[in-house]
Amino acid sequence: NLPKSVRLVEVGPRDGLQNEKQPISVADKVHLVDELSAAGLRYIEVGSFVSPKWVPQMAGSAEVFAGIQRQPGITYAALTPNLKGFEAALEARVEEVAVFAAASEAFSQKNINCSIAESLQRFVPLMEAAKAASVRVRGYVSCVLGCPYDGEIDPEQVASVARELHAMGCYEVSLGDTIGTGTAGKTRHLIETVARQVPRHLLAGHFHDTYGQALANIYASLLEGISVFDSSVAGLGGCPYAQGATGNVATEDVLYLLQGLGIDTGIDMDKLIAAGQRICEVLGKANGSRVARARLSR
Ligand code: HMG
Ligand code: MG
Repeated sequence: NLPKSVRLVEVGPRDGLQNEKQPISVADKVHLVDELSAAGLRYIEVGSFVSPKWVPQMAGSAEVFAGIQRQPGITYAALTPNLKGFEAALEARVEEVAVFAAASEAFSQKNINCSIAESLQRFVPLMEAAKAASVRVRGYVSCVLGCPYDGEIDPEQVASVARELHAMGCYEVSLGDTIGTGTAGKTRHLIETVARQVPRHLLAGHFHDTYGQALANIYASLLEGISVFDSSVAGLGGCPYAQGATGNVATEDVLYLLQGLGIDTGIDMDKLIAAGQRICEVLGKANGSRVARARLSR
């Protein structure tokens, strides 16, 4: 009883690039997004409207939105931590936004400089403005399977934050294993716990591969009825507030898993690999996708 089709949320241009120290030109970011569109991704997180003092790499997000060739049927989204960010996103004609909370107090403080409860309060005016502008809002919960500062996280705590996000109007809640310490067993237990508060068809999985467990956790999530996953082309990324976190699971590797299971995504593997390899060459770094590395060395 695996899902027949899966929606991949491509977060490489945002979650991937936000962590890069070297300047990346707007043109290179635009090119990446356009190549991902051409590869068949249907949802692309293009950038974020956060404080440039906190995440300097995302400062040019409005220019990136102005430069991309928007294709019909593709959602181009951005992260917005507060009303100010939401207003900037609207200005940039962002079609959909995401708010982000954490399941751990320490991570909330380091990432957005406030408590979990304060962050949820901060989202209220944003949710109202989004409703008025007919913009859909996705919700993230970080550190769902472990926190770099607080260690173990109680699944009930994750469920409670997810419930709040859902209750305030997030149409989907993405559960982020920010530091990649989750395992398949813990993932299933987490989903069972959260699904008592938010229906599973409204949940997404956001796995990082720091401990090499991301694909196992995705498979465990599929068995739990989850059919939306966030991934990052070429495994780009990490998190500026989670030291040692490697990239999100590589989109190419997730696609390979899904193709092997006969699950439809509508994504073209060759074009996807080419997009990932090109941005890795721009960054001067090794490709983080095992599938891409294997295919490119053939
Ligand atoms: P603060 O310093 O507490 O807030 O930051 P503030 O309201 O006092 O503002 C400070 C300055 O930032 C002011 O400027 C504001 O105008 C400005 P100043 O007066 O000093 O010149 N400011 C903004 N500028 C642009 N856009 C905005 C904005 N808001 C305020 N939206 C704040 C609080 C939330 C703004 C800050 O902490 C922040 O931007 N944090 C973002 C952190 C971030 O982007 N982290 C990475 C994304 S989360 C993630 O990667 C995890 C995820 O992928 C899931 C997973 O992997 O598990 C989602
Ligand atoms: Mg992430």
